[in-house]
Amino acid sequence: KERMVIMANNFRYYSPTEVIFGRDVEREAGKQLKKLGASRILLVYGGNSVRCSGLLDKVRHSLKEENLFVSELYGIVPNPRLDKVYEGIRIGKKEEIDFLLALGGGSVIDTAKAVAYGLAEPEHDVWELFQHTRIAKKCLPLGSILTIAAAGSETSKGCVITNEKTGEKQAYDDNLARPKFAIMNPEYTKSLPDYQTESGCVDIMMHTMERYFTNGGNLEITDSIAEALLRTVMTNAVILHDHPGNYDARSEIMWAGSLAHNDLTGCGNDGGDFMTHKLEHEMGGMFDVTHGAGLAAIWASWARYVYKDCLPRFVRFARNVMGVTMAGTDEEIAEAGICAVEEFYHSIGMHTNMRELGIMPTDSQILDMANRCTIACQGRTGSAKKLTWEDAVEIYKNAR
Ligand code: NZQ
Ligand code: ZN
Repeated sequence: KERMVIMANNFRYYSPTEVIFGRDVEREAGKQLKKLGASRILLVYGGNSVRCSGLLDKVRHSLKEENLFVSELYGIVPNPRLDKVYEGIRIGKKEEIDFLLALGGGSVIDTAKAVAYGLAEPEHDVWELFQHTRIAKKCLPLGSILTIAAAGSETSKGCVITNEKTGEKQAYDDNLARPKFAIMNPEYTKSLPDYQTESGCVDIMMHTMERYFTNGGNLEITDSIAEALLRTVMTNAVILHDHPGNYDARSEIMWAGSLAHNDLTGCGNDGGDFMTHKLEHEMGGMFDVTHGAGLAAIWASWARYVYKDCLPRFVRFARNVMGVTMAGTDEEIAEAGICAVEEFYHSIGMHTNMRELGIMPTDSQILDMANRCTIACQGRTGSAKKLTWEDAVEIYKNAR
């Protein structure tokens, strides 16, 4: 039987990161760096979690065993700051660093990426990349040891930094910064607070959904992978909400996190929508909200605003991902799918609007976020529906 024709776009898929996954794999860090010719390492990490879990000591030990020189940059906070990037560049220059090793989540890995850009082209201010006034020609190599399944930065080309002086949170995407390797031991994600685990699950889902809700053509194999990924994340997010120590569920989520954002689920589509992310980044810049939780708080408002312009995808999503079986018009089925996502988010302790999230932007703050979002989009304003500045204002208002 001939399948329904859905036009696939040409694509390039580049996912060069070597994934080293499972129990005790952190012990391989030193050998892996040596194998790649690294000799002077900048070890980058955040706050106390890697100290408390014992992972930091294990990694230091592994690097010492290979006689690698190690300098450290630490104290990276969520929604990572530009001042830490500059500090890392100063240390990196002084210590003649040739490889960066990020130990943590998206915030730590993104800081390492930004430092790596800065060290490779020290004659330029790295913030110019995030302002999109130039593109990077070089980037120092980096590897990652992941402690939270969420942002997908361990295999992605993305890098997101907040300029604390201006309140701007900006992304710079380039294959140059894809980590050379990602060491992933799900065991170390067991110490995450439930809120971080579940925010991470939302982020993973959103990376998949942003590539799914498009109007620009798709491949059936890509759609099927995306739908399986979403179902798997939902099932295991619920398990972890009740049983945070479940290693198998941790493994499912951790691997899903990488697959969701290494571009696999975008092959054959038009590059994705990504407006929920763009809208959320401004909330993160202004209110310092946890990224995944912020996505959950804005998604339903975005979805209700755009679904009529992308109806077949919303109907398919409702049926294949959210398990909506009711009869009805396409609009009713799509709406039932959106409601089912909200129910699911509530079931894992996530919020579905800004009030629940604990922020209440004023009208002028909303206009400000919409301005910044429009500038950051640089004309790429969505695929499910192309959003104008006025649309962004409405979506923020409806999410209050
Ligand atoms: O500093 P520590 O003590 O490590 O605490 C962290 C942090 O407070 C904690 N944590 C991490 N692993 C832990 C742990 N606590 C206990 N046990 C563990 N095993 O979790 C908190 C959040 O860490 P963070 O790195 O901020 O989390 P996430 O991975 O969600 O990263 C979020 C950042 O990534 C950006 C987001 O915008 C945000 O700035 N993104 C990066 C992307 C990319 N580079 O491709 C794409 C994403 O869409 C996203 O925008
Ligand atoms: Zn994200």
